[in-house]
Amino acid sequence: MKGVILAGGTGSRLYPLTKVTNKHLLPVYDRPMIYYPLQTLLSAGIEEIMIVSGRGHAGHFLELLGSGEEWGARFTYQIQEKAGGIAQALGLAERWVDKEDMTVILGDNIFQDNVKYDVERFVSGAKIFLKEVPDAFRFGVAELKDTKVVSIEEKPPEPKSRYAVTGLYTYDSSVFDIIRTIRPSGRGELEITDVNNAYVEKDEMSYRILDGFWTDAGTFDTLIRAGVLIQKHGKDR
Ligand code: G1P
Repeated sequence: MKGVILAGGTGSRLYPLTKVTNKHLLPVYDRPMIYYPLQTLLSAGIEEIMIVSGRGHAGHFLELLGSGEEWGARFTYQIQEKAGGIAQALGLAERWVDKEDMTVILGDNIFQDNVKYDVERFVSGAKIFLKEVPDAFRFGVAELKDTKVVSIEEKPPEPKSRYAVTGLYTYDSSVFDIIRTIRPSGRGELEITDVNNAYVEKDEMSYRILDGFWTDAGTFDTLIRAGVLIQKHGKDR
């Protein structure tokens, strides 16, 4: 199982904090934001990790994280020349992933739960990780029936459930064929939700509802919320 951290994008929701640096390098309590998703992958036993970032700050990621040696892992860096969405960024990892399975995590998502068990038992298709939230309209939202995901909607004004699709996904390598079939959304991006729906339609999507806290850190409010959660629960790390 390989790991991919998506750390591109413009961080426009955090401007001007992101005027001269990358969102994923901003502090969340006592560490740079990207340390948290990185730790989630490492805790799942994933040791080969690609970091995808925009060209402006790619050197900073390299300086911060290096080869991976100090983490007992191996890091590879990939440049996303132009922000084109989460699915477009993932597409850049195709050659490096080389037909293996992969766990993909968004660089601004912070999880308390451990996904080692899920990663070890992954066989094929895709798996998403859900969390019940009061503001599901801010996220991809999964509609569940019995034990299945029946649809996912990206930021629906009227969510069909309270289950947010978090920024953590496990895929088999057919994800790259799917990415080639999808088209840009209204916001001009290749949406990870369209990729996930392709797995739902093939009946190859599974899910788990996460334990512990989960937050994104991509807005002023969630950035400070993430810091406070880490301050409070950091000792559990
Ligand atoms: C992205 C995804 C969304 C997901 C969210 C998790 O949204 O498109 O489906 O729920 O991450 O943080 P974005 O933060 O790019 O708006």
